[in-house]
Amino acid sequence: AQGAAEFVPDDADLETLRSAVQGCRGCDLHRHATQAVFGEGPKRAAVLLVGEQPGDKEDLRGAPFVGPAGKLLDRALAEAGFDRATVYLTNAVKHFKFEERGKQRIHKKPGRTEVVACLPWLLAEVDRVRPRLIVCLGATAAQAVLGTAFRLTKQRGELVDPGPGDFAGQRVVATIHPSAVLRSRDRDADYAGLVDDLRAAASLAG
Ligand code: URA
Ligand code: SF4
Repeated sequence: AQGAAEFVPDDADLETLRSAVQGCRGCDLHRHATQAVFGEGPKRAAVLLVGEQPGDKEDLRGAPFVGPAGKLLDRALAEAGFDRATVYLTNAVKHFKFEERGKQRIHKKPGRTEVVACLPWLLAEVDRVRPRLIVCLGATAAQAVLGTAFRLTKQRGELVDPGPGDFAGQRVVATIHPSAVLRSRDRDADYAGLVDDLRAAASLAG
């Protein structure tokens, strides 16, 4: 597979893109997933949040951030002064990657090839929404937008210039992924860090 580019209709609006993504064969992930999960939110949101990929619940429901990580994100967004309904939420990779273990589907991190294959969808979303700020949740999203040299540990919560390339001219902030907060041994501190970074994002988007 050659990536998503050939499946992304030119000049399509978000609704058209959302239906077209179901036909994407840009990498192998469509084979085992239930459906693609496209972004959701107002067409001209000031803030566009990017996660990694849909999880088990998102794959079944066809909507981003509706599982446990989404619940945590909703809470953090509200604490940081955002209303979820005003932001555009999407993922770097649109199909769920998992490993079957008995009846469970265990999340597998998407590889660089899958992230790169799926980028045309994210680029189309950014192009249509034209956000004032892109907020990357976790290293996968951050490296999709800012390149593989980006280090979340060093630059989280600050405004980053993506430099030349696909995301040139965008204003970007990266923070920890809500799933990482859920897995953390120091959940309270990591949750507080997420809220702090989202507060910083709120003022940068203001
Ligand atoms: N994790 C993500 O990165 N995205 C989702 O939509 C859900 C969980
Ligand atoms: Fe296409 Fe992205 Fe799904 Fe791969 S993960 S098939 S590139 S939509």
